[in-house]
Amino acid sequence: MEKQSKQQPRQDDLIKNELKSIINAIKTHIEFERGFGIDTVTISKSINNLPLPVYHKKTLPLESPAINSSSDHISKNEKVRSRKLLEELRNEILSCHKCPLGKTRTNLVFGVGNPTADLMFVGEAPGRDEDLQGEPFVGRAGQLLTKIIEAIGLNRKDVYIANILKCRPPGNRNPLPEEIVLCLPYLIKQIEIIKPKVLCALGTFAAQTLLDTKAPVGTLRGKFHAYKGIPFMVTFHPAYLLRNPNDKAKVWEDMKKVRDLLNELLQKDKNYST
Ligand code: URA
Repeated sequence: MEKQSKQQPRQDDLIKNELKSIINAIKTHIEFERGFGIDTVTISKSINNLPLPVYHKKTLPLESPAINSSSDHISKNEKVRSRKLLEELRNEILSCHKCPLGKTRTNLVFGVGNPTADLMFVGEAPGRDEDLQGEPFVGRAGQLLTKIIEAIGLNRKDVYIANILKCRPPGNRNPLPEEIVLCLPYLIKQIEIIKPKVLCALGTFAAQTLLDTKAPVGTLRGKFHAYKGIPFMVTFHPAYLLRNPNDKAKVWEDMKKVRDLLNELLQKDKNYST
């Protein structure tokens, strides 16, 4: 009897802890879904009577203070100048044959977005869809990236999106070290022209290349590093998230840090100019 009464509280504690961790997991999941554009969950009955969740898209980001719209502090002249410089760089790369990818690609995938963006994302290399359309992140991973951007209160057109490689590696293989070395100067020029306030690396190749490290993305993510003085967040690649949806919550944590820092920097600019 005595033995049982001693064991009883321990079992209760175990159940309580289990319940707590389930509740915390549900909370994180809901916060993440809200952040990524899903507002409510309704339970409906499927034909075999199993409850199925139905997700509804929301119209406004919840608990996501929108970033004070980016470009107010940037003059029209600056925008025109930046756009022109990017166009010139694009034309230069169009005839690039430093590596064989220039021959095998369908289209150059230079970059897309606001030429004076406060936030710039850097991915790995174009995939099939990007190669066909000449625009980065337009496939499934790209659709998820668009959701991520919207979750922090921005649109694709507010930010700038580019890759380490501008041409598709055949069969979506990983970029080769020599391809990265040859193509990297183009990305560096893009960053110099755009002058983002915050950079965000998507995945291993962008993170390791710009930080010149071999450390795994799992240890680099979640905190700000610096690239030539620019705050530099590392997070998981959206294609990885499609295969590992449980890590979406980590990306949401990273993106909230990006959103908060951007808001802080923009507020500082505003205070300075008034
Ligand atoms: N993955 C990338 O890293 N870049 C793209 O443009 C598309 C998929």
